[in-house]
Amino acid sequence: MHLHRYEKIWLAFGIGSLLVFLAVLGVSAFAYGQQPPSHMATVDPQNLSNEAPFNEPGLRQINDTTYQATIIAMAFAYVPNKIEVPVGSTVRFQVTSSDVVHSFTIPGTNVNFMVTPGHVNMAEHTFTEPGTYLVLCNEYCGTGHHYMQMTIEVK
Ligand code: CUA
Repeated sequence: MHLHRYEKIWLAFGIGSLLVFLAVLGVSAFAYGQQPPSHMATVDPQNLSNEAPFNEPGLRQINDTTYQATIIAMAFAYVPNKIEVPVGSTVRFQVTSSDVVHSFTIPGTNVNFMVTPGHVNMAEHTFTEPGTYLVLCNEYCGTGHHYMQMTIEVK
């Protein structure tokens, strides 16, 4: 069999491109590992009941207008499933998962982040309008995914 010179050049170029592509993919997707976009705080998802702050999920007041909400997401609920704050409060959410990937999404606000097991996922929001805010899970997490929710009562 005889290969034309241009065929050899293009064949070499094609194989070379494929190797470069696989090398880039291998390094960027696997060598660096999977990390959330921010917040490097980690926690052992198997041991949440012994590890502060997730051993006591709930609402804690930090100062006159600021609260810390520590929340555990699990299939298919949030713990706690209801918190209550005065109008004008700034709530710092710190959320982790005890099992699979969930999300913590408050429609109508810019709070919408993935909740990954092993990581402390955070966001902050100031509630200037009274009302009942629904928190929803936006990441498909199993058969009960669409039941997964909690409420934030702002009075
Ligand atoms: Cu949790 Cu979907």
